[in-house]
Amino acid sequence: MALYSEKVMDHFRNPRNVGVIEDANGIGEVGNAKCGDIMKMYLKIEDDIIQDVKFETFGCGSAIASSSMATELIKGKPVADAMKLTNKAVAEALDGLPDYKMHCSVLAEEAIRSALEDYRRRTGESCSGVQKTPEA
Ligand code: FES
Repeated sequence: MALYSEKVMDHFRNPRNVGVIEDANGIGEVGNAKCGDIMKMYLKIEDDIIQDVKFETFGCGSAIASSSMATELIKGKPVADAMKLTNKAVAEALDGLPDYKMHCSVLAEEAIRSALEDYRRRTGESCSGVQKTPEA
């Protein structure tokens, strides 16, 4: 059996949503200290919907495929849905990843979460959805 599924190979060779969003209102960057891979996510959110998402990943093929699939899974979705995206869902959508490559999908989950938290910081909304009191 091939080590990587067709979907992993497809998203690795033709990653979707690669790039930068200049006027992003949520940006997250995460890294894995062990392998040194880095992932950056850009979100453009309007009316609580993820209108656009792009990523830059300096990492292994599984990290690129995971970021590509993760962007596809959250594009057009409400913020609350994107917040619930797990690395398991990303790996499943890719028809699986080898065990020792699961951490690559974790990076995608963390990058999206970090970008969403940035968005909520910017809009003054805490992660629990409670509006922050403006500073006096
Ligand atoms: Fe580090 Fe894949 S080997 S993210």
